Amino acid sequence: MCAKPIKHEPRQVETTGHQWDGIEEYNNPLPRWWVWVFYATIVWGIGYTIAYPAWPLIKEATPGLLGASTRADVAAEIAAVDSANAAIKEKLVAADLNAIAADPALAEFATRAGAAVFRTNCAQCHGSGAAGFVGYPNLLDNDWLWGGTMEDIHLTVTHGIRNTTDADARYSEMPKFGTDGILDETQIAQVVEHVLALSGQEHDAALAAEGAIVFADNCVACHMEDGSGDRAQGAPRLSDAIWLYGGSRDAITETVTNARFGVMPNWNGRLSEDEIRAVAYFVHGQGGGE
Ligand code: HEC
Ligand code: HEC
Repeated sequence: MCAKPIKHEPRQVETTGHQWDGIEEYNNPLPRWWVWVFYATIVWGIGYTIAYPAWPLIKEATPGLLGASTRADVAAEIAAVDSANAAIKEKLVAADLNAIAADPALAEFATRAGAAVFRTNCAQCHGSGAAGFVGYPNLLDNDWLWGGTMEDIHLTVTHGIRNTTDADARYSEMPKFGTDGILDETQIAQVVEHVLALSGQEHDAALAAEGAIVFADNCVACHMEDGSGDRAQGAPRLSDAIWLYGGSRDAITETVTNARFGVMPNWNGRLSEDEIRAVAYFVHGQGGGE
């Protein structure tokens, strides 16, 4: 095919002399407005590097004449929030634990501050929604190991559980019945069937009957005769479907054989009293509070 011949306009401007396949490049001057905007950006850029931190030096950038610092801005904002909250924090620390709920402004503050403390310090173990994991109790339900009143939760959070860093930590120790040879395998198998029976699960009735005797001799001091548990010792209720370590035959056998010894750090060294109270109030308000 033969291409149509290209009609050239009469030339008004010079060309650069470049030519590609018959296409020539005009040598038009840049529009005035464009040139001025270009110069303005250069002036702006120089001015900016003088006024604000800009050129990287060995340790830090040139500081700039205005002394601007986003870090200092954040510090100032945090200080402003802290001083705005100082009064209500003081009030929270001074309040009777059970009176927080009655003061709407205080309750609102404690819930919000507590949720923030929880997200940062507690969620990694108890889950972001506080529903827990195996070994880390659900804090939403009303099944409490150590108690669900404001005082109980406050004490648990302040001193922690079975840690070695706070002499006032909540403490109890289930014996390692298998590992330490307190019970033999048969007795463990029997008592496990009894625990399955207590919690209303499928079990071997004959073994469970033997297990009831083992249970009475070894377990009732902490878990009570009916398996309802003892909060003073953090011994869980065994007669329900809520399990900290699992309610299957295998999981119960493992618990009785080796015990578990769940540890929670004490928070009194890491959180301030107002933060501890806020997070206790937040947890108490999650549905299981007593
Ligand atoms: C390192 C993991 C870990 C972290 C972090 C942690 N906990 Fe715990 N928490 C545990 C364990 C484990 C238990 C159960 C211990 C036991 O068997 O008695 C527990 C128990 C509790 C209990 C007692 C529940 C009951 O049924 O009586 C409360 C309340 C609690 N935690 C609140 C908190 C709060 C609030 C925070 C954050 C400030 C927090 N925990 C952070 C591990 C943790
Ligand atoms: C000295 C008190 C004590 C004695 C005695 C004791 N336990 Fe425990 N038991 C506990 C504590 C405390 C826990 C919580 C687990 C932990 O973190 O150590 C527990 C947990 C359990 C659990 C796990 C419950 C769950 O929710 O996962 C089972 C099952 C259990 N015990 C069964 C028994 C049986 C069976 C015996 C008797 C052979 C027994 N315990 C004797 C204190 C005791």
